[in-house]
Amino acid sequence: MAEPTKPSILVTIGKGTGVEHESETAAKLFQMAFPDREVVTEPSPGVGYAITWHPPLGLLAQCENLQAIFSLGAGVDHVLRDPDLPDVPLVRFVDPTLTSRMVEWVVWQVFNHQRRAAQYAQLQHEGTWKELTSPPAEDLAIGIMGFGKLGQAAAKALLPFGFKINAWSRSGRTMDGVTAYDAEGLDAFLAATNIAVSLLPATAETKGIINTDLIGKLKKRGPLGGPVVLNAGRGDSQVSADIDAALRDGRLGGASLDVFETEPLPADNPLWTAPNCIITPHAAAVTDPRALAMYIRRQVDAVEAGKELENVVDRGRGY
Ligand SMILES: NC(=O)c1ccc[n+]([C@@H]2O[C@H](COP(=O)([O-])OP(=O)(O)OC[C@H]3O[C@@H](n4cnc5c(N)ncnc54)[C@H](OP(=O)(O)O)[C@@H]3O)[C@@H](O)[C@H]2O)c1
Repeated sequence: MAEPTKPSILVTIGKGTGVEHESETAAKLFQMAFPDREVVTEPSPGVGYAITWHPPLGLLAQCENLQAIFSLGAGVDHVLRDPDLPDVPLVRFVDPTLTSRMVEWVVWQVFNHQRRAAQYAQLQHEGTWKELTSPPAEDLAIGIMGFGKLGQAAAKALLPFGFKINAWSRSGRTMDGVTAYDAEGLDAFLAATNIAVSLLPATAETKGIINTDLIGKLKKRGPLGGPVVLNAGRGDSQVSADIDAALRDGRLGGASLDVFETEPLPADNPLWTAPNCIITPHAAAVTDPRALAMYIRRQVDAVEAGKELENVVDRGRGY
């Protein structure tokens, strides 16, 4: 007797992302990870699993036998914006390859500000030999906003250098050597923080949280002059105009931003030229396609063997 056909896999990278053409390319990659089943780019009744980034609204609802949705990245805000999203488990990408890239970005940016990279680059450009003061790690408090997989990994990497680490999360999650604050403790967390690092997901609650009010509550007189803000979580959690204004009038001493409300960051956005503002193009932790394919393969194998899916998103919380 012929074996029953295995559920097929839909790969859909939505319109408006600028990478729509990648659905076909990505489908070829996932076909290598799933040689025993069909990988398609259009919805059909045979589709059992969807792998997606910004799915076109309503598209996944057309797959009546869908069993799970896999996000191409750690965030899922781009999937949850679909009001007709089928009520099946939504799985985000959690993998050491992604975590280590984010840790690199955070450590890189902390040192950029601690060791005055932008100012030294300017002095070199001018051909000026001049030593700048740079506080030791022990004198700086790094405050990590969002203490999940990425925030905790960043803390583990920064602790051995001697930085003081504060962490703020909804539940007040903690770790040895870290001062933890819960949702109610935001003001105290900010007052104790020189460099705020946002690794928050985009949800209704985090929208626009990095704004004038929050900047005003950061520790004012620190060893870097003004406080510094880093954001590699999501652009929707910052108000770029507020960050720009604070950099220009000195309420902020610096910023490193990987994410923006509008991406790509428009050429006329003033942040491009704001003082001591380092911009990276949503490149802090790009998904490794091969690691993602293996991750989804493992999950599909597990679920078809009757095991639980991992890293399923809580839709009520939005992350
Ligand atoms: N720039 C890039 O290249 C890039 C790459 C990958 C990921 N990201 C972003 O990084 C985000 C974090 O990833 P992750 O894997 O660390 O996520 P995670 O494990 O789900 O952690 C999220 C953290 O944020 C906290 N949080 C959520 N809403 C909050 C709120 N309203 N108030 C206070 N804390 C809140 C959570 O608190 P609890 O611990 O109490 O639940 C948790 O500690 C992703 O959602 C994605 O947007 C960006």
